[in-house]
Amino acid sequence: MALSVENLNIHHPQHYAENGTPWTEWDLLRREAPIFWYERDDVEPFWAVTRYADIMTVSDNPKVFINSGPRLRLTLKGVPELLRAGVDSFGQEHDWDPDEPPDMVFMDNPEHRLLRRHSSWAFTQGGMRNMHAHFAALADDFTNTFMQALEVASDKGRTCDFVSGLACKLPLAAIGEILGLAPDDWKQILVWSNALVGEIEEEHKRPGESNGAAGYRAMHELRTYLEDLINESRECGADRGGFIDRMVHKKVRGKFLTNQQLNGYLFLLIAAGNDTTRNATSGGVAALLEHPDQRDLLREKPDLLPYAVEEILRWSSPVGNFLRTATSDFDLSGTKIRAGETVGLFYPSANRDERVFHDPYRFDITRSPNPHLSFGFGAHFCLGTNLARAELSANIKALIPHLHRLELHGAPTRMAQTHVLGYSTLPMRLTS
Ligand code: HEM
Repeated sequence: MALSVENLNIHHPQHYAENGTPWTEWDLLRREAPIFWYERDDVEPFWAVTRYADIMTVSDNPKVFINSGPRLRLTLKGVPELLRAGVDSFGQEHDWDPDEPPDMVFMDNPEHRLLRRHSSWAFTQGGMRNMHAHFAALADDFTNTFMQALEVASDKGRTCDFVSGLACKLPLAAIGEILGLAPDDWKQILVWSNALVGEIEEEHKRPGESNGAAGYRAMHELRTYLEDLINESRECGADRGGFIDRMVHKKVRGKFLTNQQLNGYLFLLIAAGNDTTRNATSGGVAALLEHPDQRDLLREKPDLLPYAVEEILRWSSPVGNFLRTATSDFDLSGTKIRAGETVGLFYPSANRDERVFHDPYRFDITRSPNPHLSFGFGAHFCLGTNLARAELSANIKALIPHLHRLELHGAPTRMAQTHVLGYSTLPMRLTS
């Protein structure tokens, strides 16, 4: 059957896992129906917005298109969004207020701005500047360990998985450092945060446990871990200067944050940067290996690294969508959006919009300007951009001397998700 706007699929997680990112589908939508009322049996209908300019317009009108409506991430009919209160057993056990938003992403101004400021000091460019040398050392270390594992595996004719072997390491270490989490805990936090997005190895499941159940258990365990840290900081009674202490002991609008608010906040910071940055790293390295001319160019001219990082962000586009709810009728490029309707912003599609990017399907590490929307736009623009860029640069820089020895080998697998997109596994071997 020929692909048409009536039969294409951009909403089913399994479709993403089996067929990869739906570039062809978004191309067709951008061309034929850029603001498309998307109706399918297994998803509540929504406006699919796929052109760059329209995604910017929606993001730039946060009073009309709010985050605090009923839907923020695309899910199948009957599948609740993971973070909403009520599905969270930890929240029920601790008498959490079901009306309190899970975190600031679910909020609008002025509350959103106030809460965002509560931590944004830690993620400024200035804050990151002090971390660069440290990230570089960590990236070198992780890269050397991966290369050694690859040597051993290659001797035995085997491959190594780049995602679990390298790409997942720095994002967790970096946020762990910033939050002041004990390095011994990072491995467990990685297991929890992977389980939250449905990525869970058999060894971390209980007998007979489904992926979904393991995800909820992971959420409960991570919340318990965070609660202990918050309580410890509260009991300590003084601001010792660490990140969590500052969050606990600083007031917002004259009031300390509740445990529920703090738990949601820390949870967000841990979860938001993990699979996103990991997927950008694995997507970027895969792209460099698939485009040996660009790989060699980067090796010859390492000064291109900042441009390569932006192109990797555009190319990999790790966040697939965010949803907004219209609070009033709005004319979006001639299409009438009505109050109460849901609008889906497909950032990866914006990043391939031929109206903005010349030859968008060319991976070009010299591309400039490169105004990609991988970090979104407007009030909720990614808080971790400086951190993500610092991590990506450190990882790619550490890998440059080794890239010509790496080879993709065997079929990668992809995450069964529509929100965060990328590889679950990316097998590699050393070039012969
Ligand atoms: C390549 C990596 C990353 C990508 C592609 C990415 C992408 C995004 C996107 C698209 C949004 C929503 C923007 C919008 O609604 O306009 C967002 C929000 C956010 N990101 Fe990231 N992100 C990345 C890494 C990180 C990291 C490392 C952190 C760590 C702190 C982080 C923390 C956040 C937070 C807290 C928000 C919510 C901001 C708000 O609601 O005000 N992200 N990110």
